Amino acid sequence: MTVDSLRPPAESGSPAPFYRAVGKEVETFRAAARRGSPVLLKGPTGCGKTRFVEAMAHEFGRELITVAGHEDMTSADLVGRFLLKGGETVWADGPLTRAVREGAICYLDEIVEARQDTTVVIHPLADHRRELPIDRLGITLSAAPGFQLVVSYNPGYQSILKSLKESTRQRFVAITLGFPTADVETDVVAREAGIDESTARSLVALGAAIRGLDGSALNEVASTRILILAGGLVAEGLGLRDAVQSAVVEVLSDDPDVIRALGELADAVLPRP
Ligand SMILES: Nc1ncnc2c1ncn2[C@@H]1O[C@H](COP(=O)(O)OP(=O)(O)OP(=O)(O)O)[C@@H](O)[C@H]1O
Ligand SMILES: [Mg+2]
Repeated sequence: MTVDSLRPPAESGSPAPFYRAVGKEVETFRAAARRGSPVLLKGPTGCGKTRFVEAMAHEFGRELITVAGHEDMTSADLVGRFLLKGGETVWADGPLTRAVREGAICYLDEIVEARQDTTVVIHPLADHRRELPIDRLGITLSAAPGFQLVVSYNPGYQSILKSLKESTRQRFVAITLGFPTADVETDVVAREAGIDESTARSLVALGAAIRGLDGSALNEVASTRILILAGGLVAEGLGLRDAVQSAVVEVLSDDPDVIRALGELADAVLPRP
């Protein structure tokens, strides 16, 4: 499990993370945040879920505590555990407990990877009681104002909806992040990669063409992230077609037939050098 912590802007003076809204997600998140409602973010890999949460945490001046879920994660990894320190047993808060105490946003990324007995600890936090029972300490913490639970989910290959109880699920505000319109995505790719608009537009056109393919041969669609990666290679001096080969074509598949087909698509969509 990895835990990242972003300090609120007041302490860090960090600039606002760049996030371009795709739909109504910003308004929806703001309303949910003001209510302290937990948010379920849905969307494919690389569509901007993490960036969106970072931008929202910054806007609300809250610390963002991100926990990357995995199959061996236990509830103790979230809540905390007793550790032996110099012969003494001391309690160490887990990231979820810290977020509850400090009024931070706790972003459980890919939480569905974790087993059900792990995710069950978020249930009482996800309803109006906003409580975290810590059995090991025999206490129940009330979440500090500002605490908010955000959970991400990729509908393409996960099934958190199965692993969350219906009663919990219905307390989440669901926000779906899809890929942005061509204009917005061009802006994002140009800015993030540091390339000119017309190159970004070509990459976005290729992304759209790949997303338009019958997806059965691809595990994942071409994300905004890989278009940015390709753009970054161009910014470093690589030719556009070579950058696309390395950051898009070879990344999306290992199958020689699929790689060839994607290459032909790139040849057709990208401008000739
Ligand atoms: N709407 C957007 N505004 C600004 N940047 C964006 C936007 N969408 C995507 N990006 C860019 O795409 C990159 C990937 O986004 P991000 O890491 O947030 O994806 P993700 O949905 O969290 O993916 P994963 O499910 O793999 O964690 C970001 O680093 C950012 O540069
Ligand atoms: Mg992410």
